Amino acid sequence: MSATLSAIDTAKFVAAKQACTYVEDGMRLGLGTGSTAAWLVRCLGEMVEQDGLRITGVPTSTRTAELARQAGIEVVSLDEARWLDLTIDGADEFDGELNLIKGGGGALLQEKIVATASDRMIVIADATKKVETLGAFPLPVEVIPFGWQTTKALLEETVASLDVMGETVTLRMDGGDPYVTDEGNHILDLHLGRIGNPRQLALVLNQVPGVVENGLFIDICDIVIVGSGDGSVSVT
Ligand code: 5RP
Repeated sequence: MSATLSAIDTAKFVAAKQACTYVEDGMRLGLGTGSTAAWLVRCLGEMVEQDGLRITGVPTSTRTAELARQAGIEVVSLDEARWLDLTIDGADEFDGELNLIKGGGGALLQEKIVATASDRMIVIADATKKVETLGAFPLPVEVIPFGWQTTKALLEETVASLDVMGETVTLRMDGGDPYVTDEGNHILDLHLGRIGNPRQLALVLNQVPGVVENGLFIDICDIVIVGSGDGSVSVT
């Protein structure tokens, strides 16, 4: 399968395939969102169809829910599953302490709720996602639409007093309109360049009125599986 893929897709595919080795019969699984997580869902679908694997999936977005159903995976809500054995998801960046930036695909809120409700979280990624210090990727923050410009100004003021390099905050757009999340919210992307203290930033951001959740995942991820274009994988 990987022979016909581009290097980047090979990397995502082999990471997803490796993550599937952590999946056991009967597990309740959180299913991430994004192009890497889509490989996971397809791999799991094959295991369901070909090996008779029995799993229950809690998707982290409407996109993943649709993909999972198409792949033949039984989909339930988080409230039906209550607690999950394992969540497998992609990431936009991860550092040496397995802190993450997520939300590039706009699904950070459900992703954080689902990962937090899991015994373990595995991140699958290609090698470009590994960084020394988080922050080159703009940090997504989900905000309610009401007064978002005020929230944006408050966020700019807040990050200016912290250990970061940049302070620009932009409203994520979808075509000509503000991007709308599955929960009907908007996303503000924080162009910070370098996040000196991700733990502090994660706490401070969620105290700004109008902020629903931020894309920093601290102490949530247990394992990162990195795939490479040559088909090799490493586990951290
Ligand atoms: C979606 C996410 C994704 O996991 C993240 O954006 C990585 O996506 P991809 O696997 O397509 O690079 O956080 O909200």
